[in-house]
Amino acid sequence: MTARLVPASDAALEAAAQALSAAPVDSPGIRDHAWLHAEPAEALRRLQLARDHRIEHGGLAWVVLADEVAVGYISARIYDDGHRAETFSVVARANQGLGVGLEARRLVLEALAAAGVRSVVSLARPDSASAAISRKLGYELSGAETRAHPEGFRVELERYELQLKA
Ligand SMILES: CC(C)(COP(=O)(O)OP(=O)(O)OC[C@H]1O[C@@H](n2cnc3c(N)ncnc32)[C@H](O)[C@@H]1OP(=O)(O)O)[C@@H](O)C(=O)NCCC(=O)NCCS
Repeated sequence: MTARLVPASDAALEAAAQALSAAPVDSPGIRDHAWLHAEPAEALRRLQLARDHRIEHGGLAWVVLADEVAVGYISARIYDDGHRAETFSVVARANQGLGVGLEARRLVLEALAAAGVRSVVSLARPDSASAAISRKLGYELSGAETRAHPEGFRVELERYELQLKA
């Protein structure tokens, strides 16, 4: 599997929305997210809103391709005068557990380092694929944060941080 990031254009987001809203895969290991329960049109609307919000506030957003097929979305919020970033990623259920999320995050770290970002944060549920990816990429656990989940409740998340080499 070869992962690649492309700018989150409307056409790329439309392909990602189709993948993210595809029927669930019956596997106990599959990680879930509110965005993975929407019809394609609603998934596209949420992706566009997220992308527009990111870009309007100086961040970056990409669609993740696996072997040239759109399977996910990854974004970086940039703050502290461009020195710090926080990433968020989601991969379609059918494509999880194959290394796409890890490779997408690695590619984003390269892009952020090239853009002058010095440290990166990722918030993850304990024992999640996202936390595992952070540890694999050398992030260190730096604390915990409570955030509002899109469905209304609050979630306890671990905060992982990585210092990037210039
Ligand atoms: C987080 C996410 C993007 C990871 O994508 P992915 O393509 O499935 O991840 P990978 O296949 O690259 O997995 C990387 C590592 O995570 C771990 N992992 C994978 N699936 C896991 C699971 N279900 N539970 C715990 N760890 C898991 C493994 O250690 C894996 O490495 P391995 O190859 O040695 O087994 C995906 O799980 C997802 O979309 N989750 C829902 C959205 C979300 O919660 N995003 C996180 C907020 S940033």
